[in-house]
Amino acid sequence: MSDGLEGVVAARTVLSHSDGEQGAVWVRGHPIGELAARHGYEGTVALLWDGFAGDGLTRETIVRQLGAGRTRAFSRRDDWLPAAAARAPIEGLRMALAALPDDSTPAEIAAALPVAIAALMRLRDGKAPVAPDPTLTTAADFLRMANGEAVDDRFAVALDNYLTTVIDNGLGTSTFAARVIISTRASLASAVLGAYGAFTGALHGGAPGLALDMLDDIAASGDIDQWLERTLASGGRLMGFGHRVFRVRDPRADLLRAALDRLDPRSERLAFAKEVERRAVAALQRREPGRRLEANIEMDAALLLDAIGLPRTVFTPVFAIARVPAWIAHALEQQRTGRMIRPASTYIGPEPAHDPQT
Ligand code: ACO
Repeated sequence: MSDGLEGVVAARTVLSHSDGEQGAVWVRGHPIGELAARHGYEGTVALLWDGFAGDGLTRETIVRQLGAGRTRAFSRRDDWLPAAAARAPIEGLRMALAALPDDSTPAEIAAALPVAIAALMRLRDGKAPVAPDPTLTTAADFLRMANGEAVDDRFAVALDNYLTTVIDNGLGTSTFAARVIISTRASLASAVLGAYGAFTGALHGGAPGLALDMLDDIAASGDIDQWLERTLASGGRLMGFGHRVFRVRDPRADLLRAALDRLDPRSERLAFAKEVERRAVAALQRREPGRRLEANIEMDAALLLDAIGLPRTVFTPVFAIARVPAWIAHALEQQRTGRMIRPASTYIGPEPAHDPQT
């Protein structure tokens, strides 16, 4: 076996599929590009949750459910916000999720994230949290709550594109964590809390802020190739490159780039990022010819979130707003199997010195 369990099939799902050779992601039979263009975040949540968190779900029902969920989350903010206010948003969100009651519904859990992140952003700026508007979409209301007033629709559309594009991707590490936790008959809230914990690491959902740090570092160094060679020679990883499943350029990166182009067609940073990507792929090839490491979504995601006006401290929490509906859907699908996930390990330690029977 491999320590990373690559190639091990650990679930059967009707929810999403990623094809690492062809460079495709589908959610319930819909290519991801179609979801971003036609269904939006709430429409895609409806597709993911239909048959698991309700029947006959539509975009409109999900807008209503998540709107009501945000109102509920806001009314419960005193359960966690005073203790979380001084923490970094990535930790503050973990505290908000930990405070959710075990009987929370899917919509209450998913809606807790935008409310918590916006409240944490406001408090860090010394401002009072803003109550949700339950009639809005998640993207529009999150930006409104974070900014204190409605934002230009272009930003809400760009954020909705982002949330939809990265919503689900087969059995990601955090998704697997959600499945493992719920399989013990733990609550859905616990499964989401555990998935979020798995998500925050630098190799997974923690990457977008680090990808932007990397771009800034490279720009400051004044020499792209030298920076790349030095980092790779010292055993460092290039943030925003490589993927366990995708051996070709991540198909979602182009969708994010198109959204960024629509938002900021003259982005100098995007031009620089394209140059870094070209040289980074070449540097990775030089280091290990034949190994296929391409760009994943993180650089484009980071540039898009930055152009929307979000600080990099909330990139990972905002990414989690996108992923939480998928964690929930996968957990509910796993729950249906009724089977606890409990693999085995091969013992490679020392044998007991004494007779184990005595
Ligand atoms: N920079 C430098 N070297 C790399 C990179 C990278 N970005 N990615 C992989 N490698 C190296 C690995 O160190 C490994 O080398 P080794 O065999 O000497 O140990 C080799 O390439 C093969 O790696 P893979 O098996 O292809 O990668 P793996 O599946 O283990 O990891 C991962 C995938 C974690 C995404 C990795 O590519 C990485 O660390 N990337 C940078 C972080 C990042 O961008 N994460 C976001 C991923 S997208 C998401 O999760 C939402």
